[in-house]
Amino acid sequence: MRHLIDPLDFGMQETEAVLDLADRIAANQDAYIDAAKNRKLATLFYEPSTRTRLSFEAAMLNLGGKTLGFPAADVSSASKGETIADTIRVVGRYVDIVAMRHPKEGAPLRASMFSPVPVINAGDGGHNHPSQTLIDLDTIRQRKGRLHHLTIGFCGDLKFGRPVHSLTKILTRYEGNKYVFISPEELKIPKYLEEDFLAPSHAEWYETQDLEDILPKLDVLYMTRVQKERFFNEEDYIRLKDTYTLTEDKLESAKHDMPVLHPLPRVGEISMDVDDDPRAAYFDQVQNGIFVRMALIMALLGICDPVMGKEVLLHEC
Ligand code: CP
Repeated sequence: MRHLIDPLDFGMQETEAVLDLADRIAANQDAYIDAAKNRKLATLFYEPSTRTRLSFEAAMLNLGGKTLGFPAADVSSASKGETIADTIRVVGRYVDIVAMRHPKEGAPLRASMFSPVPVINAGDGGHNHPSQTLIDLDTIRQRKGRLHHLTIGFCGDLKFGRPVHSLTKILTRYEGNKYVFISPEELKIPKYLEEDFLAPSHAEWYETQDLEDILPKLDVLYMTRVQKERFFNEEDYIRLKDTYTLTEDKLESAKHDMPVLHPLPRVGEISMDVDDDPRAAYFDQVQNGIFVRMALIMALLGICDPVMGKEVLLHEC
C-alpha cells in the first residue's frame, strides 16, 4: 500500500503524473464528479488548519466521495491518551483514506505503519508538508513552464517552515536549480537539508538576510510566515515576526514574471497591495490545491482517470 508521508515517497514520474492528472481535472471538472463515489476520507487534524483540511474535504466531495474526521486533538480520544497507532487502526476501519496533521514530527509516518488504508501527511510539526509541495510544484510549473534551471528564493522562517523543507527536498531532484535562503540568523534552514539534499545534488545555494538585494536575481520567490506555534518563548517570536514584509514598491526591482508563492496563512509578510500584482500566485496555489488533492486521492486509491481510460499512477486502476 502506498502512502504520502515524505515528498520523496513518489518518484519523479509519479509526482508529475499526479500533477498532470490535477491539470486534467482542472480542465474538465465535470468528468470527475463520481470518480470516488462510495469512498470515504477521514481528516484527522491534531493541529489547526484552514486550507489543508477543508481542501482535502472539498476534494473528496468533488470526487463524489464522503468525509468525516476531527479538527482538533481536544475533540478526539487523543485527549484521553489514545495512541496514534490505535487511532489509525480504528479509523482505518471506517474509511478508505486518511489525511493526518500532527504537531509531532513523524506522527503520520507512525500512523502509516499501523494503517489498513493510505495515509497522507497533511503536515507534521516543522518537518514535512508533502501535499502542499505538490501544489507548489503545480503552481511553479504553471507559471514558469518548468521545474528545473530556476533560481528560487525562500524567505522568512526557514527553520520551522515545513513547506520550505519539503519543496527544497523535491526541487533538488531537478537539474540546475539554485537556491537563495533569506532569513534571520535564528531561522536558517536546518543543517540536514544542506547535508542530505543540497550538497549531494551539487546544487548552488547561499544564505542571506537581505531580501531587497536579492530580489532582481530570483525566478521564483517563496515567502513564509514566522511560525509562532513552534517558538519556545514569545519574546523571540515578537522580535523576529516582522523581519520581512514584501510590498508592491519592493517588487519593482523583481523580474516581471517572478511568481510570489506563499503556503498561507500570511500574517503581514506580504502586504495586501501585492495581491493585485500579476506575480502574486498564492491564491492560485489555493485553487490548485483542490485539483492536486483530488488527483492525490485518486492516485492513492488506484482510481482510473475517467478521461484517459486506464491510466496507471501509483496502483493498477
Ligand atoms: N498551507 C496550509 O497548510 O494552510 P493551513 O495551515 O490553513 O492548512
